[in-house]
Amino acid sequence: MTLKIGRAAHGQPFMVMDVIAAANAQAAKSHQERTRVLRMEVGQPATGAPAGAITAVKAALASGRPLGYTEALGLPSLRARIAQHYLDWYGLKVSPERIAVTTGASGAFPLAFLAAFDPGDRIALAAPYYPPYVNILIALGLTPVILETEAERGFQPSLSALKRLDPPPEGLILASPANPTGAMLTPEEFSAIVAWCDAEKVRLLSDEIYHGISYGAPFTTAAATSPNAIVVNSFSKYFSMTGWRIGWMVLPEELVRPVEQLAQNFFISAPHISQIAAEAAFDCESELSLHIARYRRARALLLEALPRAGFRIPSSPDGAFYIYADIGARDEDSVRFCTRMLTEIGIAATPGVDFDQARGRRFVRFSYAGPEADMQEAAERLIRWG
Ligand SMILES: Cc1ncc(COP(=O)(O)O)c(C=O)c1O
Repeated sequence: MTLKIGRAAHGQPFMVMDVIAAANAQAAKSHQERTRVLRMEVGQPATGAPAGAITAVKAALASGRPLGYTEALGLPSLRARIAQHYLDWYGLKVSPERIAVTTGASGAFPLAFLAAFDPGDRIALAAPYYPPYVNILIALGLTPVILETEAERGFQPSLSALKRLDPPPEGLILASPANPTGAMLTPEEFSAIVAWCDAEKVRLLSDEIYHGISYGAPFTTAAATSPNAIVVNSFSKYFSMTGWRIGWMVLPEELVRPVEQLAQNFFISAPHISQIAAEAAFDCESELSLHIARYRRARALLLEALPRAGFRIPSSPDGAFYIYADIGARDEDSVRFCTRMLTEIGIAATPGVDFDQARGRRFVRFSYAGPEADMQEAAERLIRWG
């Protein structure tokens, strides 16, 4: 007798997590064979939390004060510190009341989607995209509407593609810089899309998780242009704190209480200890800027090495720590190609099909957030292999 299994249980895996498992297995094997696996599949800084965050955590633990649930929207002092961050980085005054602390950006998505949308609502997003957007939308009974994009425009959505949607969707997800391409919208393109959302009553979710990691291009927060946008951010990337599972949202006024109620029921609160670490991380700018300098060097190295190894880079990776490379000259199947690359030269990378089911077979995502020496070694192995 087979019992019922829920609709959401039939969702897609987040394939990069499967690639990580394969790379772990290969790494265990190659330990004996002496070809170390170089990890370029995962979008995770090689560094840990900044020293100031660790010091704050040690002090909190040494104080003997118990860690407990916090308010569902987060510690008031952290919410105030995040509001200050908007003033420091964007010159923008945001009320701490509009900040919701979450368990990473990942924890923000279901809260935002449930607060803003109803089952059946259509949410537009550009392909290639961060896979959990689509997988979470589907799990919640929402309908992703995938927008056609052009490599030359950084695979970002264009205003004209949005205007062609009839009727307009209930929501739009934007990410600039984006994963897997690192591509960024110009401030003008970004503002025009935000204005269109407001005019058409489309609820924008702006994923700003890669803010702080760019190589010259300016960041624009949707919070500066629209009171209706939901802004998602995290301590995972710029702040180098993936394992602490801590992030935040800037919410439109009318979604604060709905998100608070959902958060109370879903999570109670984000981890108290991580909130303490996060607050201190804001004062670690000089340490964190060294990470950006390291990404900048690795990016320059790979932008030079990958074309020599037969990869084409069709859109400029202006931010984040990814290069989305066209493998068309070398193979027509990125899944097969990634398997070969892992077994033959010990480099793990993610096949594009995770990010774009239609065109992803031609693409591979390389992350250069790993140790600098590994990125140098990867460049050498790829050129020798190519
Ligand atoms: C675009 C984007 N959004 C959200 C996340 C989730 O980040 P976290 O839950 O660690 O904050 C990631 C992680 O790679 C990402 O690339």
